[in-house]
Amino acid sequence: MFSSVTAHASLLWLTLFFCPLTETFKPLLSPGGGSLTHRDITQRAIFRKTGQVCRAMAAAQGQDFILPIDDRLTAYTLQQACSSGESSILSALAFQTAVTNTYLSNAAVDVLQALSAPHHFDDETFAEGRDVVAQGAAAVKAAVKYGSFVSARISLGAACHTLQDFYSHSNWIEIGNTVPFSNLIRADTPLDNLAGPDRATCRNCTGGNCSDNLLPEILQEKKLTSGYFSLFFSVKPPGKCSHGGSFDKTSYQDPVGGINKDDTTASHGHLHLRAAQVAINATMELLEDIRLATGDKDFLRLVGVSQSSVLCFVVDTTGSMSDDIAEAKRVSFAIIDLKRGTQEEPSEYILVPFNDPGFGPLIRTTDADIFKQHINKLSASGGGDIPEMCLSGLLLALTAAPPSSDIFVFTDAPAKDAELKSTVTALTESTKSKVTFMLTDPSRSARRHQRSGSPASNRLSVADTQLYRDLAQASGGQAIEVSKSSLPQATVIIEDSSTPALVTLLQAVRTPLRAENFSFLLDELVSNVTLYITGSSPAFTLYSPTGESQSHEVSEGPLGTIQRVGNLHRMQVKTHNRTGLWDITINSTVTFTVKVTGQSSINFLFNFVEAFGGAHGDFSLKQSRPSVGKSATLLMSVTGSDSLRVTEVALVPVSGSGAVNGTIEALGGDDFLVTINEPPVGNFIIHLRGETSGASRSSPILFLRQSSTQLRASRVAVTASVNATLEPGATITVPFTVETNTTAGSYTIRVRNDRGFSVSFPSSVTLEAEGRAEGTVTLTAPSDTPSGTDITLTIEAEAPGATDSNYVVISFAVATKVTDFTRPVCQVDLTANCPQDCSQATWQLSANLTDGNGTGIVLVTLQQGNGTLNTSSSGSGITFASYSASCCSEVVELVMVDDVGNAGVCSASIRGLSSATTPQTPTANATVTQIATTSSAGHCLNLSIWLWPIVMLPLLYLKV
Ligand SMILES: *[C@@H]1O[C@H](CO)[C@@H](O)[C@H](O)[C@H]1NC(C)=O
Ligand SMILES: *[C@@H]1O[C@H](CO)[C@@H](O)[C@H](O)[C@H]1NC(C)=O
Ligand SMILES: *[C@@H]1O[C@H](CO)[C@@H](O)[C@H](O)[C@H]1NC(C)=O
Ligand SMILES: *[C@@H]1O[C@H](CO)[C@@H](O)[C@H](O)[C@H]1NC(C)=O
Repeated sequence: MFSSVTAHASLLWLTLFFCPLTETFKPLLSPGGGSLTHRDITQRAIFRKTGQVCRAMAAAQGQDFILPIDDRLTAYTLQQACSSGESSILSALAFQTAVTNTYLSNAAVDVLQALSAPHHFDDETFAEGRDVVAQGAAAVKAAVKYGSFVSARISLGAACHTLQDFYSHSNWIEIGNTVPFSNLIRADTPLDNLAGPDRATCRNCTGGNCSDNLLPEILQEKKLTSGYFSLFFSVKPPGKCSHGGSFDKTSYQDPVGGINKDDTTASHGHLHLRAAQVAINATMELLEDIRLATGDKDFLRLVGVSQSSVLCFVVDTTGSMSDDIAEAKRVSFAIIDLKRGTQEEPSEYILVPFNDPGFGPLIRTTDADIFKQHINKLSASGGGDIPEMCLSGLLLALTAAPPSSDIFVFTDAPAKDAELKSTVTALTESTKSKVTFMLTDPSRSARRHQRSGSPASNRLSVADTQLYRDLAQASGGQAIEVSKSSLPQATVIIEDSSTPALVTLLQAVRTPLRAENFSFLLDELVSNVTLYITGSSPAFTLYSPTGESQSHEVSEGPLGTIQRVGNLHRMQVKTHNRTGLWDITINSTVTFTVKVTGQSSINFLFNFVEAFGGAHGDFSLKQSRPSVGKSATLLMSVTGSDSLRVTEVALVPVSGSGAVNGTIEALGGDDFLVTINEPPVGNFIIHLRGETSGASRSSPILFLRQSSTQLRASRVAVTASVNATLEPGATITVPFTVETNTTAGSYTIRVRNDRGFSVSFPSSVTLEAEGRAEGTVTLTAPSDTPSGTDITLTIEAEAPGATDSNYVVISFAVATKVTDFTRPVCQVDLTANCPQDCSQATWQLSANLTDGNGTGIVLVTLQQGNGTLNTSSSGSGITFASYSASCCSEVVELVMVDDVGNAGVCSASIRGLSSATTPQTPTANATVTQIATTSSAGHCLNLSIWLWPIVMLPLLYLKV
């Protein structure tokens, strides 16, 4: 257990930083030669499985799904095919983000579990490796059930890594298999035919050629083995195979050489592509197992396909807020009522009330009516002294909302918990969510006297407002300052944010000395362009590429409609036939922000990654700010068209010159890697330029997109990682390091988590100049924490004098170790009396569903068949299911899920039983393992069928 080896933690860290890591299918980047990485394998499997799920859902609704399910699928083509029938502009960004986060977590296993044999199926650790996969799958199912999709993807990526490594590190492919070893995702099945611990499996390679180093009798008897691997020691049991490769010390010992198929140049590189293809199919099997447990809808949310935006409100509920609460209610109801039943309906609703001293609870639901009930229940009361727990409430919303959400905060008071500013900033940078504050001026409200204290002290001071402005700007949101009576005009920006496929075309913050010019490129793939300028009295003029202009004084002009409320100018721009470079001149004596958004399918996502390892090193996700004065690497994807080319990626300072261009390297598909020699100083955003061939044009369409979140580099580096599962009631230790390339001194450490779990950590660490220090965070989950809860841990380090800071943000799941791997089974009775004209009659099925010694069936759903299903439970652990369908609907499949997500499929078919002329024995359908047939006269049949879905799953899903 990790907690018991704290003393070794620093040794492990040193190892990670200075040694090449365990070898495996390459995590993210292919060394060339057409090899497939964990990234390729994971992405292809998710895309293909998602295609299958969408195809099944389309079929159930009688719709066509024509997209071929092959390795050319992209997030965008799938998003389109899965959203058929809807005409709105689609964005595949959420889908690509979910897939990317899954494969980044997969790649991280090579860093976090570098020395753990079971995580890579090394050293013949078959039972232990399978347990890693099983516990991982159980953690995914628990997290999905709990709505924790971010941590579900982290667990999923990790489980996929181990499963995929089996096909590279074992001899499964060499002993002649062309399909996955399905028992690996079924922990209740035997692991047969393993080569025993004393059984020799390999012989020396001959002169560097390892293609024939497995012993002939191992191949003949199809005994399963895997390669031994060690970075440090050459010992291995006599006669055993090694992993192979220059870093594997065991491979220099008799029998010399190895068997891994990590890439095309590996010991068994000639089998690399076969192993990778089977690993893709094995990953699809694991995804199917998860899909059965979660159902199709939640499966699509897990992979990110069905994620429309969320509606997320953080609301001050103190005495003076009743008008604001009424407006929050009105605008959310308006959005819900407009979008309900459409594909733009928010996928989730989040509400966090706060006042003083309390905040929360967080309300999170996918049911609009439940959200309405909760927002209806909000009432303004109490408050005591003025400052409220605003940022505490905001933190809850930030960790609960999916990445890149829009969060709206309603308040009229200063934040009492301003010390959370750096944590909020860390979380907006890491989640890329935008925070917009709807600040109402209480001095103009008659209700203000309800608060104690003098009216003067109720106002938001300049410093109070600045805190909100800073947080809004850093996140790419806005701080709207209005009177309570004009709030209803300002909330139009909330409606704007619920528009799908929003992209940023321009974003800047300035404290000017003179008039400034800005420009943005409008391409023909953008519509619904809106310009926002916030500031106390900016004078501005907009110029179109076609020569027209409109000043801020003209509310209805040739270029659009301008609305002014409080400090916000919002202009809906008439863009028809006016593609090209637009200009805006802004003259303001005080700080202002300018932002232009539009609707477009083309958008991009980015993550900072950092190199690890030596000669065979790769990259893993960097969960903190990049370093000042060092090179930085971005892993990016651009989605939204089939023919995209990225021509430029630049890091552009928000408030001045000094943009830095990156070097772009294509990774295949929509992904590419960008290397930046040195990030700019101060806050910056990312600009991406590219081109796409328009369907009906000869010349390409040039486009420019920007990130909305402001980023910055730091002279402080913080790293930490969690490589153990946190169980309810248990404690884990999280070792972290702080490094600086400047000031010596005492660095303040702050650690926060969004669950209120108890943590202990050093309040500071002392660093030499250019030094490094280590510390440990200890975190305990209360024993009543539900399995599937996710937790976000933020560790911040602040330089002396608060001159600089950095953080690391880690999310992970709290999961109970699962011991029940028994799948539910069923016993079926079938009554069919079907005439030739099938529409004239119905057939019936009744079934007893049981879970043996397992945790009990909690859910029965109809996977296939369009009849009527009823279920009822008896006290004795048996669930009765009755199903009735038209004789034209010949097949039924019920999915039975137990409490920990073991899923069984109960299927039956009347196919072959419906001939009116020839009574016949049913042709054994693939799902039936034992059939007792009682054939009564004519064509009335009564079947009693025992099904063991565990055994039958591969037949069902691989043969389709
Ligand atoms: C295998 O190779 C090693 C190292 O070259 C050698 O010492 C050993 O004798 C060889 N074993 C056999 C059985 O040839
Ligand atoms: C993987 O599964 C697909 C069907 O989903 C099948 O066509 C293909 O042959 C399988 N590949 C391997 C290597 O098993
Ligand atoms: C602009 O957005 C609105 C709201 O989503 C939508 O109804 C309208 O069709 C969009 N206009 C264009 C030109 O896409
Ligand atoms: C755009 O230009 C085309 C062709 O020049 C014209 O037919 C169309 O009416 C224009 N649309 C608008 C909104 O001006």
